[in-house]
Amino acid sequence: MTERLVLRRWKDDDRVPFAELNADPEVMRYFPNTLTASESDAFIDRIERGFEVNGFGLWAVQIDGRFAGYTGLNRTAFETPMGPHVEIGWRFARWAWGCGYATEAAKRVLAEAFGPLGFAEVYSFTTATNAKSEAVMKRIGMERRADLDFDHPNCLDWWGARHIVYRAAPPLG
Ligand SMILES: CC(C)(COP(=O)(O)OP(=O)(O)OC[C@H]1O[C@@H](n2cnc3c(N)ncnc32)[C@H](O)[C@@H]1OP(=O)(O)O)[C@@H](O)C(=O)NCCC(=O)NCCS
Repeated sequence: MTERLVLRRWKDDDRVPFAELNADPEVMRYFPNTLTASESDAFIDRIERGFEVNGFGLWAVQIDGRFAGYTGLNRTAFETPMGPHVEIGWRFARWAWGCGYATEAAKRVLAEAFGPLGFAEVYSFTTATNAKSEAVMKRIGMERRADLDFDHPNCLDWWGARHIVYRAAPPLG
């Protein structure tokens, strides 16, 4: 919970609004493609299996009782210059943009990562032109790590393959 948001595990009622945002070309502008409803459902199933195994994942975010998107942690499943690591990520429906919700949720998730979950560092990365996502990384105090920028190995022929990297570490003291 934060002042305005509920971060929680996923419910069946989230499937329709999640499929809608994954089908929205504007939400998916910085991904290689939009998702079909069955791809979106399979994504929720993978997230929920991850929670069972890891005890963390991409939390569903609810605003005034309405599903808005996700913010959370994920073990990156492909090779990057960072080596094995946990990443923080976010995706919201367009109605929920421009209100600071992603920033508020991400601060809460970092507190969980560096508190109860005990991680020593968390990374975030996005395609180089996704300024809104990069702005969230900056607002939550992550450090730009240009030395770790990489070409996404799963979509090398996509225009957005080049990814920029940010890193967060626990607050000192
Ligand atoms: C990335 C994404 C979550 C960012 O959403 P966002 O609304 O820009 O980010 P926030 O929720 O932190 O809101 C910040 C904006 O709200 C404004 N704002 C209003 N009230 C605010 C508040 N109380 N606190 C902070 N910001 C506030 C800020 O000024 C900022 O506006 P600006 O972009 O005009 O400068 C959203 O664009 C998205 O879901 N994109 C599609 C998925 C995606 O690309 N995910 C990342 C892949 S790596």
